Amino acid sequence: MQLKNKLMGLAAVAMSLPGLAAAAAAAKGNSTSPQPDKNGKYWIKSDSLKAGFVAYGASISDLYINDKYGIQRDIVAGWDNATYYTLDGQHPNYGNVPGRYANRIKNSTFEIDGETYHVEPNEHPTEDHPDGVNTLHGGPDGWGYRNFTVTTHTDNSITFKIVDPDGKEGFPGEVISYVTYTLDGWDWDISIVAISTEKKTPIMLTSHTYWNLDGFANNETQTALNHTLSLPYSGQRVAVDNILIPTGEILANEKGSVNDFWSKPKQIGASFDDPEIHDNCGLDCTGYDNCWTVNRQQLGAYDWRTHSPVASLSSAWSGIKIDVYSDQDAFQMYSCNGQNGTLTLKESQGIHGDEDNFPRTIPQYGCVVLEVQDYIDGINNPAWFRGPKQIFGPGDDPYVLRARYHFSVDA
Ligand SMILES: *[C@@H]1O[C@H](CO)[C@@H](O)[C@H](O)[C@H]1NC(C)=O
Ligand SMILES: *[C@@H]1O[C@H](CO)[C@@H](O)[C@H](O)[C@H]1NC(C)=O
Ligand SMILES: *[C@@H]1O[C@H](CO)[C@@H](O)[C@H](O)[C@H]1NC(C)=O
Ligand SMILES: *[C@@H]1O[C@H](CO)[C@@H](O)[C@H](O)[C@H]1NC(C)=O
Ligand SMILES: *[C@@H]1O[C@H](CO)[C@@H](O)[C@H](O)[C@H]1NC(C)=O
Ligand SMILES: *[C@@H]1O[C@H](CO)[C@@H](O)[C@H](O)[C@H]1NC(C)=O
Ligand SMILES: *[C@@H]1O[C@H](CO)[C@@H](O)[C@H](O)[C@H]1NC(C)=O
Repeated sequence: MQLKNKLMGLAAVAMSLPGLAAAAAAAKGNSTSPQPDKNGKYWIKSDSLKAGFVAYGASISDLYINDKYGIQRDIVAGWDNATYYTLDGQHPNYGNVPGRYANRIKNSTFEIDGETYHVEPNEHPTEDHPDGVNTLHGGPDGWGYRNFTVTTHTDNSITFKIVDPDGKEGFPGEVISYVTYTLDGWDWDISIVAISTEKKTPIMLTSHTYWNLDGFANNETQTALNHTLSLPYSGQRVAVDNILIPTGEILANEKGSVNDFWSKPKQIGASFDDPEIHDNCGLDCTGYDNCWTVNRQQLGAYDWRTHSPVASLSSAWSGIKIDVYSDQDAFQMYSCNGQNGTLTLKESQGIHGDEDNFPRTIPQYGCVVLEVQDYIDGINNPAWFRGPKQIFGPGDDPYVLRARYHFSVDA
């Protein structure tokens, strides 16, 4: 019965989501075995875009687009080869799908139907808790640390699969997930579907991609603080404490305040003179690592594909702009506050041959992470009523995330 529900659920989603037909075929046991290039990367392309992926974390590793001068730029952070994703000790979650629960879980604890679960901590170690006091991105061996399998790979599309066993990192029940990336014209489409086959469990996913719309080759500024961001539906945000754990409050982003990106588009660095930017992303942290809510249900029926984007990011220097369309109700943006020049650029990025003036590393504020997702730690904040979007059991509708990153280039 459970198995039947599982397959019916997956088939139903696949039918309603174009691009997932391949995943459905794979689920029926008809998979091809695609081979990566010599660097372990899988490539897909459209007329205007070309992207590379690695199995590790189902991560996007490269995204090529021509800037306003016709110069090809690689605008996502990553490593040169798949092997290095597993070797790198810093593990910035480059372009991956963190799971099974993205972002933070307070005290590494949650409760479902009166039962308390403890998951593996991996953030903010203290003397008493050397492994940490909360769980970030699914734990120390979350999905972002594991190799997915490639189930299908065509010229413009790739599907990754992961089977996350019962009890892994402390989470209840098995979860099976498919991640499909497709390039079509100027669009990068992301479809993520996940089903819980055994027990009720939290599921919240995202694409954790680091962007620098200048391909880290801006010869006037090495940071992304001059990138312009718009979050037109985000008049509110989730309040967090000193270590970025939600307090339960939802705060107003008053017009003109540091977290206001809704009243009009604003450069990421535009409010850095405002004292409120200090500690905005946790104690002693200057910048952004915040979860904005996407408030548009109030506007009536909408289609996420055609309704205006939930976020837009652009750089005047390269002319490259991303409009993010998504069905998700929240949006996390991180302004690379924690970067400090220890992450090296890919060969395809930056400026070569002038290391003194243009170091081949990512400086603080050198990138912007955009994450379509649900409310951070909704599982520990029942007053937000995120249950139907974050807790999934056998027989339930599957977890679904859809996003379309639409690119354009302004002369
Ligand atoms: C699997 O795919 C191959 C090639 O596309 C096709 O010939 C075959 O009928 C498929 N098998 C099943 C069980 O769907
Ligand atoms: C793999 O990538 C890493 C980081 O980008 C680089 O340091 C290393 O030299 C590469 N290894 C090979 C064999 O290309
Ligand atoms: C994951 O894939 C990488 C790159 O292909 C490989 O070096 C590594 O050994 C794999 N890890 C596991 C656990 O299979
Ligand atoms: C935090 O988790 C620990 C066990 O991991 C538990 O003993 C404690 O009660 C939890 N604290 C709160 C406030 O939930
Ligand atoms: C900076 O880069 C732009 C775009 O590639 C180029 O047109 C300009 O000449 C460069 N300026 C300097 C000083 O190198
Ligand atoms: C960054 O933006 C500011 C404010 O718009 C502007 O004054 C400055 O010239 C820009 N810097 C670069 C290097 O583009
Ligand atoms: C830079 O950041 C990395 C990763 O967070 C950390 O391991 C390293 O110690 C930092 N280095 C410096 C010089 O602050």
